[in-house]
Amino acid sequence: MSNVVVVGAQWGDEGKGRIVDWLAEKADIVVRYNGGHNAGHTLVVDGRTYKLALLPSGVVRGKLGLIGNGVALDPEALLAEIDRMAAMGIRVTPEVLQIAETATLVLPVHRAIDAAQERMRAKPLGTTLRGIGPAYEDKVGRRGLRVCDLAEPELLAQKLDVLLEHHNAWLRGSGQEPFPRDPMLNDLLAMAPRILPFVGRVWEQLDHAHSSGKRVVFEGSQAVMLDVDWGSYPYVTSSSTIAAGAASGAGIAPSHLGRVLGVSKVYATRVGEGPFTSELDGALGDELRERGGEYGVNTGRPRRCGWLDTVQLRQSCKVAGINQLALTKLDVLDGFESVQLCVGYMLDGARIDYMPSTNAEQQRLQPVLRRFDGWVGSTRGVRSYGDLPPQAAALIDAIQNEVGVPVAMVTTGPERDDAIVLQPPFA
Ligand code: GDP
Ligand code: IMO
Ligand code: MG
Repeated sequence: MSNVVVVGAQWGDEGKGRIVDWLAEKADIVVRYNGGHNAGHTLVVDGRTYKLALLPSGVVRGKLGLIGNGVALDPEALLAEIDRMAAMGIRVTPEVLQIAETATLVLPVHRAIDAAQERMRAKPLGTTLRGIGPAYEDKVGRRGLRVCDLAEPELLAQKLDVLLEHHNAWLRGSGQEPFPRDPMLNDLLAMAPRILPFVGRVWEQLDHAHSSGKRVVFEGSQAVMLDVDWGSYPYVTSSSTIAAGAASGAGIAPSHLGRVLGVSKVYATRVGEGPFTSELDGALGDELRERGGEYGVNTGRPRRCGWLDTVQLRQSCKVAGINQLALTKLDVLDGFESVQLCVGYMLDGARIDYMPSTNAEQQRLQPVLRRFDGWVGSTRGVRSYGDLPPQAAALIDAIQNEVGVPVAMVTTGPERDDAIVLQPPFA
């Protein structure tokens, strides 16, 4: 058994897409198991940039992609993405993409509710406004629509009525216009013939893959600190982002998941609101943002930047089941006179070595920083550990020691093969 689950180990945008793309060379199948088009996964191949939101990153190599039941699927966004890929020469046909019948649908009403909720919050969460949170609310509220409903026009209309009864009560109660059913219904019915050929039993595909010894990469979206249980609640997304989420969000036994590769930058970023202890507000943060190109893939929002937080990373590895690390964007630290790691927290005058659970405590944390010398020269495109400046190698070693998880890969540029491989990815 040699599957790999790729999990974001920080606040998202760690470079999961490019790691999945790299792994996909030796894999047969890539599976998305959580989130929706709130994700933005970037691949750079021979100078061409592919930005994926819903499609599993293996499609760029023509590998079979599966969208699991745990994904919140906006059919409009999916079709637009398939068309964008086609324009770039990547044909996404039912031979290379299958969608779980039971994946929950993201509808225009969810986008409207997402925006209305954000407007009404005293402290907005800074969501991506894609409707992801409200769609998952409907799923657990047992009034959600699922991909399989697209095949049943009459039931679809009835289910939309039930769903809108719920949302329109809230919209009217908060002085807003109710959401109309018919345009949404008509759009869904118009899209159904394009979506339905992709629909299948993803769990069965994975079962066959397992029994025939195929290699599967599970592509996590978002990250541990955005996980609905383990993230900095309520500043989180609404799905299970961790390795356990891959089992329930794709339909495979936890014991078949294989290795769990956590992806972390060698610094830290966060987009949206919420605590970020090692954040750099001033010129250093701006420099990281500019050098790292830290702007949202889909929303274009500037990402908040700071030093790598090894306390957060260590805890994330434990709760998410991460047993190998891929460290990304080492080249972004080229030219910094010094680099820091957050290696502890001060909370109300006492030193602690864990992330407390309450938002109030998380907001009061002060970072304990450890300084490292920067390096002269470029690590861009370096593919061998021995070719790294000694200061860069020392930083990698220090991260590994603080976090207590082996580093399997270090990336040194956005291109597919700009990477140092320290441990083979498949067992
Ligand atoms: P994801 O959401 O985890 O897949 O990550 P994103 O695609 O949102 O953000 C990662 C960004 O960093 C993308 O623009 C990548 O092209 C870029 N990137 C990934 N790895 C490296 C690297 O090693 N060096 C540099 N300079 N950029 C990288
Ligand atoms: P990838 O897969 C970074 C953040 C949003 C917001 C919070 C909730 O590219 O790493 P949501 O729209 O999900 O309800 O927003 O989560 N967020 C992400 N941040 N990368 C992502 O995905 C994200 N997906 C959601 O900014 O703070
Ligand atoms: Mg991203």
